[in-house]
Amino acid sequence: MNLRYQDNCNNISWERVVEILKQVGMSYTDPEKHKISFEVSHAVVFVFDGDNLIGIGRVISDGVRQSAMYDIAVDPAYQGHRIGQEIVSRLLTATSGCNCILYASPGKEGFYKRLGFKKMKTGMAFFTNPQRMVDGGFVEE
Ligand SMILES: CC(C)(COP(=O)(O)OP(=O)(O)OC[C@H]1O[C@@H](n2cnc3c(N)ncnc32)[C@H](O)[C@@H]1OP(=O)(O)O)[C@@H](O)C(=O)NCCC(=O)NCCS
Repeated sequence: MNLRYQDNCNNISWERVVEILKQVGMSYTDPEKHKISFEVSHAVVFVFDGDNLIGIGRVISDGVRQSAMYDIAVDPAYQGHRIGQEIVSRLLTATSGCNCILYASPGKEGFYKRLGFKKMKTGMAFFTNPQRMVDGGFVEE
């Protein structure tokens, strides 16, 4: 592996971003919308092995108090090599001093717990497609 971490959106293939999200079973939409969501984020991380994009992550934030992490994903062929951990760690560093929230995919809570995240007791979310989130095991009916 010849890993390279990139903290900007230069020369990113948004089709490849969609492909990674699909590969790991996370929600995805049109490449153009992912481009916008990464470009307006406070900090982004893209991981390459050579020219191949193999990991992604982003955090939205006011930069001083609050942040929220999204789209943390590692190509299945590269999982288990501490790449996900490095992505999260870089995003936390980029928003240091901020509280950070996220919703983990079911089964991934332990990954975030190891990194210092705590389970929220009063987390509430307004979803555009609430039934999808119920079906995905993210929220109660
Ligand atoms: C979750 C994900 C980003 C983790 O990335 P990764 O590169 O495979 O994980 P890492 O190698 O950095 O793991 C770091 C540590 O967390 C542990 N870990 C990984 N997944 C875990 C899980 N589901 N539960 C508990 N611990 C986990 C690893 O064993 C490792 O522990 P170690 O330091 O003792 O070796 C990756 O598996 C992934 O893309 N999954 C599919 C998409 C997804 O669910 N993303 C999260 C959306 S919220």
